Amino acid sequence: MKLNTQNAEFIRSAAKLSDCPRDILPQIAFAGRSNVGKSSVINRLLNRKNFARVGSAPGKTTHINYFRIDKKVYFIDLPGYGYAKVSKQERARWGKLIEDWFADTSLLTLGIQLVDIRHKPTADDCNMVEWFKASGKPFVVVANKHDKIKKSEWEPNVARIRETLDLPEEVPVISFSAEKGTGKDELMALILEHIEATTGGEAISENT
Ligand code: GTP
Ligand code: MG
Repeated sequence: MKLNTQNAEFIRSAAKLSDCPRDILPQIAFAGRSNVGKSSVINRLLNRKNFARVGSAPGKTTHINYFRIDKKVYFIDLPGYGYAKVSKQERARWGKLIEDWFADTSLLTLGIQLVDIRHKPTADDCNMVEWFKASGKPFVVVANKHDKIKKSEWEPNVARIRETLDLPEEVPVISFSAEKGTGKDELMALILEHIEATTGGEAISENT
C-alpha cells in the first residue's frame, strides 16, 4: 500500500465526541504526555515542519486533532496529559473526552503511545497504556527524544519502559527522534502494515 503523505489535510479539532468525524476511514491515534512530542512525531512522519502544531508551551493541545492523510486514514493527535499547571476542571474534561473517545475504538487501526525515552514512564503513562490494552486493538510504544540520551542508555531505558508499562511481548517499542528522524521508517512501515491489514490493501477514497 502507498500512502501519499504529501496529501495531508487538517480536518477538525474536536472538543467533544460529537465533534469527532466518524466515517469508514481507519484511525491511527497518537497519545502521550504533554510535551512528549506527539505533534512533532506526526510532523516527522509526514515530512512537514509545522503541520501538527508544535506547542511553544506545554499543555496547548486540549482538543482531539484529526488529520486526514491521502484521503485514506486519519492521524489523530490526542490531547496531552500530565501537565502540572492544569486546573482540576480541565483535567476532568480531559478524562471525559478520552473516556468517550475510547468507548468506541472500532475504527482504531493502531494506537501509538509516546513516552520520553529519557525517563521512567509516569503513572499517567501507565494509565494511558491501560486504555490501549483495554481497547483490544494493536498498539506500539514510541520512545521519543532518542537524540537526547547517550548510547549507553539506549538499551536499559527501553527495557525500563517495557517493564514499567508492563507491555505484552507483541507490543513493539520503537526508539524515535522526531528531531533527527530516527525510527521514522520503522514506525511508518508498521502503520502501513496495519492499515493494509484492516483495509485488505484496498485504497479507500470514499469519505461518507
Ligand atoms: P502537547 O501538544 O502540549 O501535548 O505536546 P506534544 O506532545 O504535541 O509535543 P510537541 O510536539 O509540541 O513537542 C514538545 C517539545 O519537544 C517541542 O519543543 C519539540 O521541539 C520538542 N521535541 C519533540 N520531539 C523531540 C525529539 O525527538 N527530540 C528533541 N530533542 N526534541 C523534541
Ligand atoms: Mg501537540
